[in-house]
Amino acid sequence: MTIKSQNNFGLNFVGSGSATPSQIIKNDDLRIRVETNDLWIKTRTGISERRIIGENESLTGLSSQAGQGAIQMAGWDPENIDLLILATSTPDDLFGSAAQIQASLGAKKAVVFDLTAACSGFLFAVVTACQYLLNGSMNKALVIGADQLSRWVDWDDRGSCILFGDGAGAVAIQSIPEAENGLLGFRLRSDGSRGNCLNLKSIEEYKPLVKDSIYQKGGFSPINMNGQEVYKFAVREVPTILDELLSETNVKPSDLDWLLLHQANQRILDAVADRFKIPYEKVLSNLASYGNTSAATIPLMLDEAVKDGRVKPGDLIASSGFGAGLSWGAALFRWHGPL
Ligand code: UT7
Repeated sequence: MTIKSQNNFGLNFVGSGSATPSQIIKNDDLRIRVETNDLWIKTRTGISERRIIGENESLTGLSSQAGQGAIQMAGWDPENIDLLILATSTPDDLFGSAAQIQASLGAKKAVVFDLTAACSGFLFAVVTACQYLLNGSMNKALVIGADQLSRWVDWDDRGSCILFGDGAGAVAIQSIPEAENGLLGFRLRSDGSRGNCLNLKSIEEYKPLVKDSIYQKGGFSPINMNGQEVYKFAVREVPTILDELLSETNVKPSDLDWLLLHQANQRILDAVADRFKIPYEKVLSNLASYGNTSAATIPLMLDEAVKDGRVKPGDLIASSGFGAGLSWGAALFRWHGPL
């Protein structure tokens, strides 16, 4: 969709933040656990190491740190934040972890909730937040993407455990006059009929309740993934959705400053770049250091590139997320930085 503002409102991306756990697990460390090796992992995925939450860290803690970073860069008073969305599939609390983050940030006035759309969660949450800003009902939104998949990875499955890491990233989005609007367009898609190739399902364990009745015990099975199917899905759907978005917004691939994709596999990033003839220097990647941090990959990468000066105010960025659901999406935006 191209953006049609109601009431002449636009929005800008005015701050970013991120946080990663201190514990580093290198490819070679995983050899102790599964039959694998550094060369295989690097050549098939581009990943060298990942960070995993340990004893004195938490998803809520990392998310708060990332949110704090974005608030600081934006120069906001936390009490003026209207909306806080936490995109995650791995909350500390199944009732939602956003409220604990709100409390630790002091964002007293904010409406807060969790949003789950796996690795597409951050983009889905950004687009959701933007609706409130574009219709003029809210002014400042903090969107955090964070996941702790290490809790749910089968650490004995070499086909999946080598991919994932934990992390958090955040963006601060602020409504501004329409003429300066920084979100040019977006597209979101879901297809539950293909959901079986990547899931994290509740366990099917039933216990006696009273008399002849039973209840289902809570808990989840480890991540189940058909890597090849997910790979094929990504290299087919991501170029398609980006192509649709670029045509709709009359933007040529050569107009883009950056391609900011969900960091799942370097080969997927390269394949999408090749499809649009975008030089690899314009494709943001930090897979080598963090692996796939699910809903966190896009804001974590954005924050790194903003902080090291690669992404500059006014840069045009095409972003796409994809993952379980199946779900996928794309957004075209300009990075603004502090107002
Ligand atoms: O957010 C979305 C999350 N999911 C994804 O992004 C997954 C997308 N898929 C992928 O990234 C890739 O499919 C993987 C990296 C998961 C796997 O790469 P692949 O090139 O598709 O490998 P494969 O599954 O076809 O396996 C090739 C070989 C097999 O051995 P044989 O049958 O050829 O003898 C596997 O058993 O590599 C073997 N293998 C490994 N070897 C060493 C699989 N995992 C490993 C491993 N180390 N960790």
